[in-house]
This record gives sequence, C-alpha cells and structure tokens, in this order.
Amino acid sequence: MAVTFSDEALAAVLHRANRNVQARSAYPESLTSILSIATTQEARDEIHQWDAYSETPLHELRDLAAGIGVGNILYKDEADRFGLGAFKALGGAYEVLWAVTREISSRLGETVTMEDVRLGKYPTETAKITVVSATDGNHGKSVAWGAQNFGCPCRIYVHAEVSKARCDAIEAFGATLVRIDGDYDDSVHACADEAAANGWFIVSDTSYPGYMDLPRQAMAGYTVMVEEIVRALESKDPVSHVFVQAGCGGLATAVCGYLWDHFSADRPRFAIVEPTFAPCLYNAEELGPEAVFAIEHESVMAGLSCGEVSQIAWEVLEPCIDDFIAIPDEMIAPVMRQLGTGSDNDQKIVAGESAVAGLAAVIACMQRPDLAAALDLNASSTILLIGSEGATDPDIYQAMVGSL
Ligand SMILES: Cc1ncc(COP(=O)(O)O)c(C=O)c1O
Repeated sequence: MAVTFSDEALAAVLHRANRNVQARSAYPESLTSILSIATTQEARDEIHQWDAYSETPLHELRDLAAGIGVGNILYKDEADRFGLGAFKALGGAYEVLWAVTREISSRLGETVTMEDVRLGKYPTETAKITVVSATDGNHGKSVAWGAQNFGCPCRIYVHAEVSKARCDAIEAFGATLVRIDGDYDDSVHACADEAAANGWFIVSDTSYPGYMDLPRQAMAGYTVMVEEIVRALESKDPVSHVFVQAGCGGLATAVCGYLWDHFSADRPRFAIVEPTFAPCLYNAEELGPEAVFAIEHESVMAGLSCGEVSQIAWEVLEPCIDDFIAIPDEMIAPVMRQLGTGSDNDQKIVAGESAVAGLAAVIACMQRPDLAAALDLNASSTILLIGSEGATDPDIYQAMVGSL
C-alpha cells in the first residue's frame, strides 16, 4: 500500500506546466556549451579514475509502483556515492580539482593536468590555494573532501539551520567551518564577500552573473551518475517520466540535459520537484530566473531549500522542463518510511529528506486526478527518480523514520 496524503497536503501541491518548453525536439545546439554528453566527457573520464569509484544501483520498485498506480519506478540510489552519502560527491570535489589544476597551470605558466594534481605532484602549489564554499550540507562535504584529497586549505560557510551532524561531517574532512546568521542564500553572499577580500577561490554549485565556469563543472561531474543510469536503462522498461528534485537546479540540469541529449526528440517528460517553502524554479517559470524567492521557513528537504536559481542551469531548464511541481514538507517523512520498509519484491532503501521529493510528488500526482491527467501519468508510466542522498544526517533520519 502506498502512502495516502491528507486532503490538506494534496491541496497544497503546486503545479505549473512550462509554457516555454521545447517538447519533442532534438537537444538544441545552443546548449551544448553549457552541457552535453560530449562536453562533459572529460569530467567522467577523470572521476572514473578516482579511488573507490563504483557505480551506484538503479533499483526497480514494482510493488511500490503498483501500489501507487503507475507501471514501474526506477530509483537511482546515491546513498553510497564515494562513502559521502549523496550524489554531490561528484560535483564539488571535481570542481576543486578542475579549479586548482587551472590555477596551478596559470601560476607556473605551464600545462598541468588534473591527473598530475590528483597524483599529488604539486603539493607546494596546492597548499597555497584556499577553496571556499557555502553549503546546506552535501555540497560543502564534497568540497571539503576534494580539498583534503587534493591538498588545499578549505573554508565552508553554513547557515543557522544546517544540522550539527552535517557540520561535523564537513569538519571531519579538515575544513574550517564558518557559521553565519540567515539562510542558504545569505551564506552564499557571505562566502563571496570574504573570498573577494582574501583572494580565496569560490567553489560553488550555483552560478550567478560573472560566475559560470565552476558550477558548469559541478554539473559535468554529476553526469557520471546519469551515464550510469543510461547504461542501466538498456535492460529496463522505456522511461516515460523523470521526476527530479531541485535546489538551485544543477542536478536537474545534469539529469535532464544529458537525457535530452541522449534520447533527443524521444526524450521522457521531465518534472522538477521543489519544496513549497522554496519553489525558486517554479517561480522562475513565471517571473524569470532573476526573481529571488525569500525563504521564510527552512524546508525539511535541506538540500532543496534554495531561493535563487542557478542562472546557467536555467538556460538548459527553461526549454527542457515540462512541469514544475512544489510539495509541502509533511509529505516527506511518510515517504522515507515507505522506502525504508520495502516489500516482498522491493528492497528496503535508506533515503534522506531531499532524496524522496520526486517519489512524494509522483504519489501526490496520482492522488490528485487533475495532476495525473495534466502530467499524463497512468498505469503504463515508467518513472525515473533520483535518490539523491541516503541518511546524510543519521539523527534526523532516525527521528523521521524511527530506525536506521
Ligand atoms: C541531497 C540533495 N538532493 C538534491 C539537491 C539539489 O541539487 P541542486 O541544488 O543542484 O538543484 C541537493 C543540493 O544540495 C542535495 O543535497
């Protein structure tokens, strides 16, 4: 049996069909400089060389799908990515390597490769490059891990609501933690100001005017996951829908941009899912990507609590996304419990708060006939979901699910 949401929760779901989507057309040439399968190959080649690289699983959840009323559910489970607990391990750490490699090349006036830096051939140079980032948890952990691996000092900025366990995990990789008042967007601005004053290197997962190159590399890193998905899909039912959760939009860009490039005009229908407490992409559809959503309540979906759209991500998402959906926080805990319980045929999955947003949205749509019809969701739909994190904060997970 699938979770049943209350009438109030279902009434709180927001949906907007994208008026600017270029549905059922080939991947636009104009987007390939931001992201394409070809232009992200370098990132995949590099990350595949990292110690402990291994593919994460794509689970089939047929019992759950039947309980919800759809044909099949495919869940890409990122809980074990490099031992960091989230897909973000692929982005921030790769950005660090990419940025440090370019900086050393420029300081020495010679071409240095990412492999050289990864193999520790420039310890004196890397020790002089401080990398900094703002985070709600997972990105900062990835940057701190990358900085430790590649030998550079690291400072991570967190806002008031980032949990102690998530901060401890960042400090465990040797980073200096800087706690600031305000929300995620305030931590991004504090980090930018201090970096400018001190000559530090910002390694952000979100882009803004004048800062586009590195977030593009983070998205390139995430395509490691999407390439694995495409390989695994060869033996599965054709995917009709992809529900992908979003904070600033980098993950959705990597997933949907890559899949659009791969499937071309036959691509699946793409839906973005955000918290109703932070629907910045949903708002961008109407107001444009510069519109800032002022967050009043931090969502339990900590990784998605983001009021500002990544500008470079929007360039891909605007023509790409079919549907924007926002869901209330109360839908999250029951869906985490459902995945954590499993069934006769579906294995148990430890999924964190931000990981289950897509599944919660699918369930909500199937319990709102108007939304199921609008998204063309029915018993023959096969839905791809991105399980973007495991129990990245075990205490929060335990409090929400009851066990770990
Ligand atoms: C677990 C998890 N899922 C999804 C996201 C959303 O990614 P993005 O901000 O690139 O949209 C994040 C962002 O931090 C995250 O930590």
